[in-house]
Amino acid sequence: MSSNRRRSIGIFDSGIGGLTVVRQVHRMLPDEDIVYLGDTARVPYGTKSPETVVRFACEDTEFLAQRRVKAVVVACNTASAWALPTLHRRFDLPVFGVIEPGAAMALRRTRNRRIGVIGTSATIRSGAYSRIIHVLDAGAKVFARACPLLVPLVEEGWTNRPETRSILRDYLSPLLRCGIDTLVLGCTHYPLLKPAIRSIVGKDVALVDSAESCAEFLRIDLSERKLLFIGRRRTGTIRPFVTDDVGRFEWLSRRFLGAEIQRPRRVFLPVAGTDGSG
Ligand code: DGL
Repeated sequence: MSSNRRRSIGIFDSGIGGLTVVRQVHRMLPDEDIVYLGDTARVPYGTKSPETVVRFACEDTEFLAQRRVKAVVVACNTASAWALPTLHRRFDLPVFGVIEPGAAMALRRTRNRRIGVIGTSATIRSGAYSRIIHVLDAGAKVFARACPLLVPLVEEGWTNRPETRSILRDYLSPLLRCGIDTLVLGCTHYPLLKPAIRSIVGKDVALVDSAESCAEFLRIDLSERKLLFIGRRRTGTIRPFVTDDVGRFEWLSRRFLGAEIQRPRRVFLPVAGTDGSG
């Protein structure tokens, strides 16, 4: 087996939310080892400027590249929205984002070609989902809405409180009035709000989880590049790293991953080798 196939998949996020992507990748590719970096010292990315997000994403990717991963997944929607072209230019390894798979899945699910997208302020400001949806289908209509209150609510564990449902109703009602039949959950944290979102949008609106779409995209792409692990069946390991104190990670990770995870190691960014400029 080529030695590249044995290498880990690197996944990074602004913090802990990216474990929703790790969860889907681990489910879809159970043999693969995963190295996860949560930039918990600098979370959130969703309120930061594009230049800052690009710089952080380069530093995160450099850390994973130095661990000799075979591919990098940008689990963070905000970083995917702003940094992907720079990462493709600067790093000589396959880099995957969550936006394109989510956009493609939304177009497969919609029947009336009216698609809603929710995400952080920075993701929505980037227009990345609309742009990719329109490249794939110029006639589709996209209705996007920034939902900045949702990340802190999920991190507090308020996923099914009346207050959260009321905020969600506020955010989602204008999209529903536009007649969307598909809603892209364009943020690492939103899969945890699925039951609450479902209770507001009803059963006729398809919910697209970009974490799930990304894992499927990754499986197909790595297989085409002959980079998938092949060999005796086994359970791949998940090795977490964080840039801040490990306490909060342990508290939150169970909910995002849906399983126990080993204790993360703390690291300091940037590692030597990044100058951080786009
Ligand atoms: N991971 C971010 C995203 O998916 C959400 C948290 C943040 O703002 O950093 O956009």
